[in-house]
Amino acid sequence: MCGIVGAWLNQGGTENITDVLIEGLRTLEYRGYDSSGIGVLRTDIGSESSSSFVRIARRQGRLANLEEVLKDGSLQGANVGVGHTRWATHGEPSDGNAHPHTDGSNHIALVHNGIIENYLELRRELESEGVLFASETDTEVLTQLVGRAYGQTGDLAASLRLALRRVAGYYAVAVVGNQNGATELVCARQGPPLCIATLEDGAILASDVLALLPHTRDVTYLIDGDMAILKPGVISIERIDGEPGTSVEREVTHIDWDAEAASKSGYPHFMLKEIFEQPEVLGRAIFDRLKPLEGDVEFEGAGWTSAELNGIGRVQILACGTALHAGIVARYLIEGLARIPVEVDFASEYRYCDPVVSPGTLALAISQSGETADTLAAMRLARELGAQTMSICNVQGSTLTRDCGRNILTHAGPEIGVASTKAFTAQLIAAYLFALRLGRARGTIDETNGRKMIEELRHLRPKMEQLLTQEYSDSIRAIAKRHINAKGFLFLGRGVNYPIALEGALKLKEISYVHAEGYAAGEMKHGPIALIEPALTTLVINTEGRVADKVRSAIEQVKARGGPIIAVGSDPESQRLGEDVIDVPKTSEWLSPLLNVIPLQLFSYHFADLKGCDIDKPRNLAKSVTVE
Ligand code: F6R
Repeated sequence: MCGIVGAWLNQGGTENITDVLIEGLRTLEYRGYDSSGIGVLRTDIGSESSSSFVRIARRQGRLANLEEVLKDGSLQGANVGVGHTRWATHGEPSDGNAHPHTDGSNHIALVHNGIIENYLELRRELESEGVLFASETDTEVLTQLVGRAYGQTGDLAASLRLALRRVAGYYAVAVVGNQNGATELVCARQGPPLCIATLEDGAILASDVLALLPHTRDVTYLIDGDMAILKPGVISIERIDGEPGTSVEREVTHIDWDAEAASKSGYPHFMLKEIFEQPEVLGRAIFDRLKPLEGDVEFEGAGWTSAELNGIGRVQILACGTALHAGIVARYLIEGLARIPVEVDFASEYRYCDPVVSPGTLALAISQSGETADTLAAMRLARELGAQTMSICNVQGSTLTRDCGRNILTHAGPEIGVASTKAFTAQLIAAYLFALRLGRARGTIDETNGRKMIEELRHLRPKMEQLLTQEYSDSIRAIAKRHINAKGFLFLGRGVNYPIALEGALKLKEISYVHAEGYAAGEMKHGPIALIEPALTTLVINTEGRVADKVRSAIEQVKARGGPIIAVGSDPESQRLGEDVIDVPKTSEWLSPLLNVIPLQLFSYHFADLKGCDIDKPRNLAKSVTVE
C-alpha cells in the first residue's frame, strides 16, 4: 500500500522495464514497506496473437528478495509494467498478499495504496457470482472489479473508472492491461499522492517525485479525483466522475535542483508537506522493529536487556516545547502500560530545581534536533546525579545521541518547517514502542495484549491517511475560516489527549500569532471558564474511552456560557454537541493522540495561511534553540 511506480517505455529503447521499476521502488523504500512486487506485460507488437498476459513477481521482505527472484529472467522482454512496495493492512505481509494483483484472466496487473472501505461487501458480492480470490487483500477486490469490466469492455480506463465508482475509500492505484493486442497503463488518485510524467520515449508514474527525478524534471501532480491514461510521450488526465474522453489540464511542475523546490514536492509550505508525510513516518518508525508473533518490539540501537528494563524504578522525562508534549503523552503510556512512575519536566526548569535522582532512575530526553541547549544540559545534570540516560531523537549523530548511552531514533526525516509536526508524531510512536517494550519486559503486558497493541499500530497508517486527503484538509480550512475572527482559542483534552490540547494550542499560536491556551478539560472550571464567551472558540478533543463522559460535561459547560465549540475526535456524543465537527477515525485510546493531533496541525496551518502568515518561518522562532 505504500509506494507505487509504473512505466511504459518505447520498444527498442536502451532501458529495461524491470530495472526502471526496481530503481523506482528503491527510491520509495524510505516510506517503509514489508513486501514488494512488480508486474509486466509484453506488448508483442506485430504478433498475430491477441492479448499478452501479465507476469508477476512478488516477495515478502526487502527489495533484495524480489531482485533475487527476478534473476531467473522470467520478466525480461517486456516494456510496460507496474511496481509496488506494500505496507500490510488487509492480510498479513506475505508473497501472496503483496501487489501487484491480477484477475482470473491474467490480463491486468494492479497496484494500490490506501484502503477500500467497502471491500468486504464487494468481495461477498463477487464471490456469490463465482469469482475466486487468491489473497486476503482489499486490493484484489478492486482488481477483480476492474478485470470483469475489462473483459466486457476491452477498455482499461473505462473499466477502472467503473470499478472506482463502486468503491468507498481512498487510494492511489495503477493498472496495466492488454486485451486483443492493445496495451494500456492507467492510474488514479483519491487520497495518497501520485505524480506522472511523459518521457521522450515513454511515460512514468510514481507515488513520489523522487522516483521520477532520474528520468525527468517535468512532472505533473494528480489531484484527488483525477485519473490519467499514459502512453509513451502522451498523457491524458480525466476526472474519475467525469465524462470519458473529456480531459482536464494540470500544470506541469519543473523540478529544478533548487533543493527547496524539489523537497517541497509541490506543497506550498514545508509544514503542510511534513503534515502529509506522517503516514510514511509511521511506516519508517516501526519498520523492522515490530515482532508481531511475540507481541513485542526490538530497537536497533537502544540495547536494553529485559533485566535492565526491569531495574528501572522511575523515569524522568526532559524536553522542551512540542517534544515536552510528546513527553507528557509518554508519561501516560509508560505509567499506564508498564506501571513505572514518571515525571515530566521542562528541561529549562529541571536544570535549576535541584532535582532528586534516586537509584534506578532513567532520564529520558526527547528532542527532534538533539541540539536544544536546555535539553542537553538537563540530561547531563541527570547523568551527573546518577541517572541512566536515553534519548528519543530524530537526528542521528546529534550532540544528544552522542551524549546519551542509548537512543531510539524517530526516523521522521529532515523536518524543515519551524513548527514541529511529523517529528512530534514520530516521538509519540517511539514512546508507544518503548512503553510496550517496557511492559513486555516487566510482565505488565502479556503476549496477547502485546500482539493486540502491535495490530492496532499496524492499522493506524490507513487511518492517518484518511485524515490526509485533500477533502479532509479542505473541510478543516472551511472551519478555520468560520473562526478567523475569534479573539482567542481554548483547547481542551483529558487523559492521554490532554497533551494534545497543549500541542494544538502551541501550533496555533506559534504560526498564526493568535492567543491560544491548552488546558486539561477537568481544570477548566477552576479558572479558564471565566474566559468563555461567543468570541472565544473552544476546541475539545474527545475520544471514546475512560474519560469521554467527563470531557462531554466540559463541552456542556462551555455551551451553557455561549462559547462556540469545535468537537475533534471520534466520540459521537461530543460531535452532536459541537457547532463544528472534525471527525477522527477510532483507534485504541493509547494511540488516539497520534490521530487527534493531525486535524489540529491542519487547523493551525490553514488558520495561519488564511491570515497570510509566514508559515515555515514564524516570527521570533528558530528551528533549533541552541542557546539557554
Ligand atoms: C514547536 C517546536 C518547538 C520545539 C522545541 C524543542 O513547534 O518545534 O517547541 O519542539 O524547541 O526542540 P527539539 O525537539 O529540537 O529539542
